[in-house]
Amino acid sequence: MQLPFKHLLETNQFNPEVLRFLFEESRNMEGIFEKGGNQIMKGKILATLFWEPSTRTRFSFETAMLKLGGQVISNFSMGQSSSITKGETLEDTARTISCFVDIIAMRHHQQGAVAEFTKGSSAPVINAGDGAGDHPTQGLLDIYTIWKWRKFENFEKAFGNLTIGMIGDLKNSRVVHAQLQLLKFFKPKFILVSPNALRMPEVYLNMLKDYDCEYEETEDLESVISDFDVLSDTRIQQERFENREEFEKYRTFYQIGNKIMKKAKKDMIVIAPLPRFGELLPEFDSDPRAKYFEQVKNGVALRMGLIKGMC
Ligand code: NCD
Repeated sequence: MQLPFKHLLETNQFNPEVLRFLFEESRNMEGIFEKGGNQIMKGKILATLFWEPSTRTRFSFETAMLKLGGQVISNFSMGQSSSITKGETLEDTARTISCFVDIIAMRHHQQGAVAEFTKGSSAPVINAGDGAGDHPTQGLLDIYTIWKWRKFENFEKAFGNLTIGMIGDLKNSRVVHAQLQLLKFFKPKFILVSPNALRMPEVYLNMLKDYDCEYEETEDLESVISDFDVLSDTRIQQERFENREEFEKYRTFYQIGNKIMKKAKKDMIVIAPLPRFGELLPEFDSDPRAKYFEQVKNGVALRMGLIKGMC
């Protein structure tokens, strides 16, 4: 079976049934990864086209394709070194690259740019982050990480009774928006913790209301941290700020470290898409509740499942 779409542009292309299909595939892929990979993508090529910096997302897409026996061509500075600098359009770039490859993962600083690119692409395209827009694969691997921690229970049981705390730049983080869009189906309780100026946008709060999800908003992490089963931490999104001073004001507004985590449950987990920049302290890394590096590895299995389902 294939995934029921050609391109993956938005997290809201997933419903629980499609999510289950992808997660089961990804779970199988963990075993395949550990055994060194397979050859199901032999002869196929992935292009990774990045206009915005990336470490985890690009390398994990590439690792995923290589583990499946395929090959990779990559450009991580499309804005400086491709024919875009000569004025070529995204559509023509897509027409060209899709002559060479079977699937494309693309990141761009402008919301909507990946969608524009698909107009010219005959190959399936995966949105690997489009500015302040969406980042479906990160949201997917985050929720997969929770599911794995919940021992692959059925979704209602795995997610339904959880209290999920989302901390940080809830206004600008495309990742928490993606997480929310996937979790809403299972109605966990959400506690949204952010500086007042960086609150979750109204459109996502309305979505939670439409799906009958219980949520509360606060600036005060200390007063709610003991309720969390999952703490989803997110960096203040420096690149979305117009001035540096404003960003510095919030950079370490919250700091997840050993002191505050003493107040949290013993059997909860902390996830984060990374990178971190002062808001998540390395001293906490050795705590068994810290799942963010395991999460990176889950990202490869998830992307292996995705490539298999789209290619
Ligand atoms: C995230 C992103 O790029 O949006 N990182 C990632 O993909 N691993 C989160 C972030 O940069 O804060």
